Amino acid sequence: MSTYIITGGKKLEGEVSVSGSKNASLPILAATILNKGITRLYNVPNIHDTKVMLEILKYLGCKIKRSKEKVVIDARNIQRYEIPENLMRKMRSSVILAGALLGRFKQATFSCPGGCDIGARPIDLHLKAFENLGINISENTGYIRCKCDIIRPGKIHFDFPSVGATENAILAATLAEGTTVISNAAMEPEIIDLQNFLNKLGAKITGAGTSQIIIKGVSNLKDMGYKVMPDRIEAGTLLCAGAITSGNVLVKNVIPQHLTPVLEKLEECGCNLKIGKEEILLQAPKKLQAVNIKTMPYPGFPTDMQAIFSTTLTIAKGNSVVVENIFENRYKYVAELQRMGAKVTLEGRTAVIHGVRKLNGVNVEATDLRGGAALVLAGLVAKGKTRVNNIEYILRGYENLDKKLSKLGAKITKEV
Ligand code: EPZ
Repeated sequence: MSTYIITGGKKLEGEVSVSGSKNASLPILAATILNKGITRLYNVPNIHDTKVMLEILKYLGCKIKRSKEKVVIDARNIQRYEIPENLMRKMRSSVILAGALLGRFKQATFSCPGGCDIGARPIDLHLKAFENLGINISENTGYIRCKCDIIRPGKIHFDFPSVGATENAILAATLAEGTTVISNAAMEPEIIDLQNFLNKLGAKITGAGTSQIIIKGVSNLKDMGYKVMPDRIEAGTLLCAGAITSGNVLVKNVIPQHLTPVLEKLEECGCNLKIGKEEILLQAPKKLQAVNIKTMPYPGFPTDMQAIFSTTLTIAKGNSVVVENIFENRYKYVAELQRMGAKVTLEGRTAVIHGVRKLNGVNVEATDLRGGAALVLAGLVAKGKTRVNNIEYILRGYENLDKKLSKLGAKITKEV
């Protein structure tokens, strides 16, 4: 297991560029299965999760060519429709491949994606959407088999606006004959990116970014290139790194409107933001003010920023109240923060953060992707040296985080 070693106390200053979005890349990589041809993708981050997704596409029969600036996926000769347990275990969000395999081949088998570090992560909404499309589902010995003769377009209503289930429904319906309407769909920007990608290849999808999405099935897609959107959560993480160190940071290659709720809260804590077309300049105050946060489905405050923003608040002036409404187990990083001197009281889904004057550098363990990134930010401001162990969690979703932070003046090294 690798470690980040961080010496705290440096104000972050300078400019840094955000990589492509992990959570847009994964469904778009799965969607390349729908094109019986060759698809070129740009700005796909070179991180663990995209590497696993490419490994699975290769296992299914795709030919993959990856260079620094692009990924080329040749999906002409797919011969497998099953995602084996060992690959599912590497990344539970590979369930998104089911919709793409069903969309093109009307069959998909995958192992039940277990829970993960932040919750049970059920897939009932995914399976209900598939059933609404006339897909038969059977489950035995830990595998879920989905099959149908044709995908029957229809109406899908989600009890909860699940991001993954919305994406899976879009993928399954894209090549179906007829029109599918999804209501109470997730509205995240990554869904808009998936719609833009598929429409560029010839699909007919409208409404992404709203709660109703309409998919008019087409018979096939065509070879195209597409650039994946920037990672809004990485951008938020880098802005919070500037905020927690009372720094002055220019974050480039970002779409500011993807971050509205986060920018609002940064301003409420006392940061001065200058917002450009594709960049955000953050000037932090000497002392941040406490604020309250409730995570919600987009366009509410993103759950993926909860650990990172809560950590930023551990040294703010006053008490902050954070409510995590999306995942049931997304406070595992708090125990590690408390070892650094943070004063946080947990009560169910609520965390009350009492601002302290300083944190101390100690050995901590990353508990999950965003919790791990939060501990890195704590290390940036802690007195002395912080060792963040198990950084494999962080490498799943952040491309060269240590290099980006070093470019801003942080003292951070990686020990393998
Ligand atoms: C996506 O996960 C993201 N992952 C998550 O980012 C993100 O936190 C989440 O959306 C919410 O924004 C990817 O895009 C790869 P959901 P997903 O389905 O699709 C419940 C990160 O850190 N639910 O919207 O799994 C579920 O348990 C990751 O980058 C059901 O009950 O999220 C959760 O409580 C973490 N039944 C809530 O909905 C279902 O069938 C939100 O889940 C599906 C979900």
